[in-house]
Amino acid sequence: MFTVTVTDTHDETDTVKVLRLVRSDGGALAPYPAGAHVDVTGPTGITRPYSLCGPPHDTGAYTIAVKRETDSRGGSQALHDKAAPGTELTVGAPRRLFGLAPDTAARHHLIAAGIGITPLLAMAYELHVRNAEFTLHYVARSRSEAAFAGLLERSPFAGRVVPHFGLGREESRTALANALQGLEEESHVYTCGPHDFMAYVREVAARGLPEERIHSELFQAGTPEDTTVDTPFEIELDTGEVYPVPPGRSIAEVLEENGVPLDTSCREGICGTCVLRVIEGEPDHRDHCLTAKEKAAGDQIAACVSRAKSSRLVVELW
Ligand code: FES
Repeated sequence: MFTVTVTDTHDETDTVKVLRLVRSDGGALAPYPAGAHVDVTGPTGITRPYSLCGPPHDTGAYTIAVKRETDSRGGSQALHDKAAPGTELTVGAPRRLFGLAPDTAARHHLIAAGIGITPLLAMAYELHVRNAEFTLHYVARSRSEAAFAGLLERSPFAGRVVPHFGLGREESRTALANALQGLEEESHVYTCGPHDFMAYVREVAARGLPEERIHSELFQAGTPEDTTVDTPFEIELDTGEVYPVPPGRSIAEVLEENGVPLDTSCREGICGTCVLRVIEGEPDHRDHCLTAKEKAAGDQIAACVSRAKSSRLVVELW
């Protein structure tokens, strides 16, 4: 973690604020691949992951776009209300859970909805520099609600951007289905946006591509699980300690209450920060960060949201 200073802010839309961050000690920022995110601890101490949405080759500053979420823990609201030029924030090293395929890809199809544009914007910058073949489809309720619409229109890759603004749900789906018809062999699809949107894009893309060429990143968890269906279980550490996890409490909360250090960020099963290795027992996966393959393997668990189907889970702290 290191300290950064906000040097500039502006409102992209009524609900999306853009922050430019530089290192407070004047040092160089760590380089990052397109699609990477950083954990940002805001003025009220809440940490949230944000995609880096500036050009990845510009390492002088990090740019993040924060959507005001009124029903979350308040991290985004604090950045909207309190972050101004001069404000200091704490930022973790960039992490890549979502990234571009190697240069051998024939074409890259970037499909964004709403604030999901942020990692795909960084990817578009990178693909443009690589001189790669790509198209960026951008779905939003209206142009005025589409963050970076003006920037995309003025960008050197504006001709590769296909806006789908102001369409109804079915019209958007039809447009995307048409766009993803007859996908070239060796092409890759990347999508970011609400859960339902990405599920649809994944479903359509899977008609022409294997799963490993379809990449997605979730920005917002869905409705929290109904804790009335939770059953109690025990969590055992590889060091031998055993703690009960009651309904309504997460593994992460139980470990923290017992003084066990555990890194967390989103606490919504999105970012992957809290993932632990499972040595024994059967996880009840409720996260959005592990892939279907990883969930089926059963040897990892997102401690902030997932639970256990077995009466005990034995985990290893990384
Ligand atoms: S803290 Fe983000 S997935 Fe658990």
